[in-house]
This record gives sequence, C-alpha cells and structure tokens, in this order.
Amino acid sequence: MSDRDFRQQSSNRLLDEGDGPALAGVSSRFPLAGVSATRSGPPTGAVPPDCLEALEWRAESQVTAMALARLNMRLRKAVATDVPRLREVIEASVRGLQAADYSPAQIEGALNSVYGVDSQLIADGTHFVAEIAEPKTGQMHIVACGGWSKRKTLYGGDQYAGREDSLLVPSRDAAKIRAFFVHPDWARQGIGTMILEACENAATEAGFTRLEMGATLSGVPFYRARGYAEAQNESAPLGNGEVLPIVRMVKEVDKRAWPQGNAEPGNAD
Ligand SMILES: CC(C)(COP(=O)(O)OP(=O)(O)OC[C@H]1O[C@@H](n2cnc3c(N)ncnc32)[C@H](O)[C@@H]1OP(=O)(O)O)[C@@H](O)C(=O)NCCC(=O)NCCS
Repeated sequence: MSDRDFRQQSSNRLLDEGDGPALAGVSSRFPLAGVSATRSGPPTGAVPPDCLEALEWRAESQVTAMALARLNMRLRKAVATDVPRLREVIEASVRGLQAADYSPAQIEGALNSVYGVDSQLIADGTHFVAEIAEPKTGQMHIVACGGWSKRKTLYGGDQYAGREDSLLVPSRDAAKIRAFFVHPDWARQGIGTMILEACENAATEAGFTRLEMGATLSGVPFYRARGYAEAQNESAPLGNGEVLPIVRMVKEVDKRAWPQGNAEPGNAD
C-alpha cells in the first residue's frame, strides 16, 4: 500500500470514529512501545517482537497526548531491520518538506552526501521511530524518526564525511538532537514534537543539561516552537559542489527535570 493510500485509510477511519468525547482514559504519561493508545481508554495491545524495550514517554501537553491517541501511534527504538523503511521516509520527507527552503540541487546533494540513517544512533539505542497501525491489517508502519546522541557528530548519515563519533561529557557538552524526518503525509500532526520530547527526556536522564542540533532551514520553526534558540548560521558542503545552509540551535534543560530530584544522573556512557 502506498503511503498516500495508507494515510487516506487512516484519515477515513478517524472520520468514521467521529470527534466523540475527549480522551477520558488517556493518561498524560503512559508507556508507548508495544501498546496502542485508543481514543476512549487506556493503552492496549500486544508487545511486538521487534520492540527492544518499553520506552516511557512523558507527554508534556494534553494536546500532544490527544494527537498521539487519535493517530493510534506507537514510539519505539529503531532497530537495524528498520533501515530500508527509514531510507524511504527520509527521502520522502526531504523531497516533500524541504522544497520551499532549498534548491533541487541542494536537496539532491544533501540526500547523497549528508541526510541518511546513522547506524551509530541505532546501535546506541538513541534513534526512535514513530509507527502507525495500518487500518486494515493492523501492521505497524514507520512514518517518522528522530534521535539524540551522546556523540560529537552534529548531523549526517553514515555516508557523511564530517562525522566524529567520540563521546560527549554530559556535564560539559550539549547532547545532539539528530535525524528528525517526518513523512510529508504525516506532517504537522505533532509527531515530530512527540519524538523530540522523547529525545529530550532520554538525554536529560543521561545527565545532559544542554541540547543542540544543526537544524535545516525547514526545521528551524519546529525547533523554535519547542524552545530552541538560533545560535549560529553554518553550512554543510555537499558532494555536488553545492552548500547546505543550516542553523545551530540550542536549548538549556531544566535540571529539575532530572529523575531523582536534584541528584545528578550518572554518565550513561
Ligand atoms: C521539521 C519536522 C521534523 C517537523 O515535524 P512535524 O511532525 O511536522 O512537526 P509538529 O507537527 O510536531 O510541529 C510542531 C510545531 O512546530 C512548528 N512547525 C512545524 N513545522 C513547521 C513548518 N513547516 N512551518 C512553520 N512551523 C512549523 C509549528 O509551531 C508546529 O505546531 P502547529 O502545527 O500546531 O502550528 C518535519 O517538518 C520534517 O521532517 N521536515 C523535513 C526534514 C527536516 O528538515 N528535518 C529537520 C532536520 S534538522
């Protein structure tokens, strides 16, 4: 089934369900991996075998929790077998959502030399995927991804030359927010925000108090909406001679968000 057909089916199902009463049983804090949130009750469903572990996600807003439940969505850590689908989602996201910000030559160059799956994130267990159940078969379908990193690389997939995989020091360095791509059929539904919240929580629990990323021009309004500030304009040289303008954005994390009161979490490395 094409992404568009799938999207249409899911939309139809949501319409069939009507707007109904708001999410009486949906908590603002519930485990996502392996469960499905329904619009009228608590999460239900079997744990699929490819889920590494339950991933606790704290919805910080009821709006996000409602969006999540409406989409019957699940968040889990990416695994190596996700890579072919991740490549599809990344390419569709870039072609579909960056056309207003970058030229066709920049997009082609970036797809070839910068954007892509970073296998190190998957190996580290810091790359998340958002999945939605196909209405007819119930089969889960990846529609977005995003991650964070305890390593120096600011951006770029496996093929990117400017990688630096040495470890950061949480008390000194900023954790990196990495590889956010939402399939265009599923954009502006709060999915990117949901993944970003999961990444921020995980990085905070690993002891980081600052977060940063090399944002695409298309990503700047998204990160700004989540409290990141533009720090510096940068550019990534592309293999075809083009240059990709990006913006380094940063955010301080409130230490009070740490899990054990004010006690500093240990270095997760
Ligand atoms: C950036 C991206 C990940 C955002 O994902 P998303 O799921 O569409 O974002 P959300 O729905 O969670 O958006 C949350 C808020 O961010 C802001 N935002 C997101 N996309 C925006 C856009 N294109 N223009 C303006 N504001 C935007 C809005 O304030 C939005 O809230 P609203 O929809 O209620 O107005 C997605 O657009 C994408 O994949 N882009 C292409 C790949 C890319 O450039 N990724 C960034 C890599 S650094």
